[in-house]
Amino acid sequence: MLFFGGDYNPEQWPEEVRDEDVVLMRQAGVTIATVGVFAWSNLEPEPGRYDFGWLDRVLDRLHDGGIRVALATPTASPPPWFTLAHPEAMPVGADGVRLTHGSRDTYCVSAPAYREAARTIAAKLAERYARHPALAMWHVHNEYGTDCRCDTTASAFRLWLEKKHGDLDTLNEAWTTAFWSQRYSDWAQIMPPRATQYLPNPAQVLDFRRFLSDEFLSGYLDQRDVLRAANPDVPITTNFVQGGWVSVDHARWAAEVDLVAVDHYPDDAGAGAEEETAFAGDLARGWGGGSWLLMETAPNLIYTRARMHAKEPGRLTRHSLGYVARGSAGAMYFQWRQPRGGAELFHSALVPHAGPDSPVFREAVGLGRTLKSLAPQVAGAAPPAAQIALTWDAPSWWALQAGGLPAADLDYPGAVRQAHRALFRSKLQTDFVFPGVSTDLGNYRMIVVPHLYLVSDEAAAAFRDYVAAGGHLVVGYLSGIAEPDTRIRLGGYPGAFREILGVRVVEWHPRPPGTEFALSDGSLAGRWQERVETAGASTVASYADGVLAGAPAITRHRCGAGSAWYLSTALTDDSLARLLASIAAEAGVEPVLPGVPSPVEVVRRGPLLFLFNHGIATAAVPLPGPGVNAVTGRDLGSVATVQGGGFLVVRV
Ligand code: GLA
Repeated sequence: MLFFGGDYNPEQWPEEVRDEDVVLMRQAGVTIATVGVFAWSNLEPEPGRYDFGWLDRVLDRLHDGGIRVALATPTASPPPWFTLAHPEAMPVGADGVRLTHGSRDTYCVSAPAYREAARTIAAKLAERYARHPALAMWHVHNEYGTDCRCDTTASAFRLWLEKKHGDLDTLNEAWTTAFWSQRYSDWAQIMPPRATQYLPNPAQVLDFRRFLSDEFLSGYLDQRDVLRAANPDVPITTNFVQGGWVSVDHARWAAEVDLVAVDHYPDDAGAGAEEETAFAGDLARGWGGGSWLLMETAPNLIYTRARMHAKEPGRLTRHSLGYVARGSAGAMYFQWRQPRGGAELFHSALVPHAGPDSPVFREAVGLGRTLKSLAPQVAGAAPPAAQIALTWDAPSWWALQAGGLPAADLDYPGAVRQAHRALFRSKLQTDFVFPGVSTDLGNYRMIVVPHLYLVSDEAAAAFRDYVAAGGHLVVGYLSGIAEPDTRIRLGGYPGAFREILGVRVVEWHPRPPGTEFALSDGSLAGRWQERVETAGASTVASYADGVLAGAPAITRHRCGAGSAWYLSTALTDDSLARLLASIAAEAGVEPVLPGVPSPVEVVRRGPLLFLFNHGIATAAVPLPGPGVNAVTGRDLGSVATVQGGGFLVVRV
């Protein structure tokens, strides 16, 4: 079975709507509903008084309809009575202001009262539902990531720091507290980052984010252990969310969930949404070691920064199948039915305000049918390992959000996405590896390392061994600069990678946004330049003019059996795509399928080739042999014709 469904909030609706829900879910081929995510105040209307009757009926009704349930613990939104009884468990911002209820995610994960209440409600749910026949998985909490800087958090932070650094001398060294007279002589002097007169200490900020990641994880583990004890056979997960504000290191968390579940909301209304979808799917598959689940996306909405954008016909289907092609165990949405009120009243749903007589519901019905026919064909099959990997490192992202860096617009995810996009446009399948989490770099022919600002000696050594053994390594600027605690590696940038790359960078030249300049090979670049000295590497392209005219911009170092390239500048999308494609060709990387016309995306999963035509015109895709339409069973011959905006899943 592929999971198809999403967040379901029957507590917002009267019984007759709940009856209709199951009828419509069956019509759409929904296989799973996530229930109870924000239902704490309905489940425990007063402290210690539980009302499970409505949830019993919901689960039974879904079960009678053949629909499985991802049952959530509601701990992302404690009820108002909890807030009033435990003001000390409400989060405090950097400015010292303590929040109150009125939204969601209002709790301090370090507060004993919150932790106790979360464990208790999880235990009550476990006691009642752990063996309910509809239960497919537990969905703990929702999108961990809300932080707090209160005194309780401060105490927990200090304990974490003591465990990490051992003694104050080590911490003082790691945080460079000799700068601006910040030397600590007692653990009690250390605070979470709070409002400061000017720039805070970047190592303190980074350690706080690492602490938060561990603190959220311990909150998750509290609940997981309670749920596990009630029935060890039910998988347990929580939905990961990405965002600059989220202090969760998902790569480090992944081992603690039974199935990596990811929420993903593209924010580019144009072709960028397809590229974001591919990026999110590849990254999630990396976290999940091959398997994962799209837990939430918006059925009919791309939320750009300023306005909502309704998806064009076919886009819901292409995006959803795109995640499945990249290894997801299904396609799930926020949400089933669009609410009548509340903060997200216009967020899209499979059943919109207009009702089931609507384009989105009709498309969902078709998608449900498609997923049903594909389910047995993808069962147990993950996409094959790619031949190229990209690195992802949450702490480097966090470190590059600090103030006091050489440019204010450094964009870690932007750099990784750009490299992914470049490979995507060249039809090259990409995996992710996580330096610092694992030193296993797999059997990739090529690894691309954008903005890996922090790197440990062990992680750097793994890259050295990789190149020595014949790997093709492409390192982008702002990589290898600092040790994991943000202390700069001396002797010239890019610190940890200087030797492998055979270069030494003595000066950075960030450029104003919008600047564009040429390299000697005709490539275009912007935003960043460096004064690079070669020390073993040869120059692939140099800066064409300006103060760095003639100096190396892109270099290559043959090293052992492999090669290491250095990109000291921010190439434009086209130039980066050209460079990476040529390195990939040299590394012997093959596209998933040769000869695919440009708007068509191809992904392989098990025996199936997923073809998505993101363009308007019909496209002809040459197949490697006679193919069969995996949904209809019809023979396709050796050329697949994919309608504009359409898709085709082919068994070859
Ligand atoms: C997240 C949350 C949902 C909802 C959506 C809206 O994914 O988990 O509850 O708020 O965002 O985009």
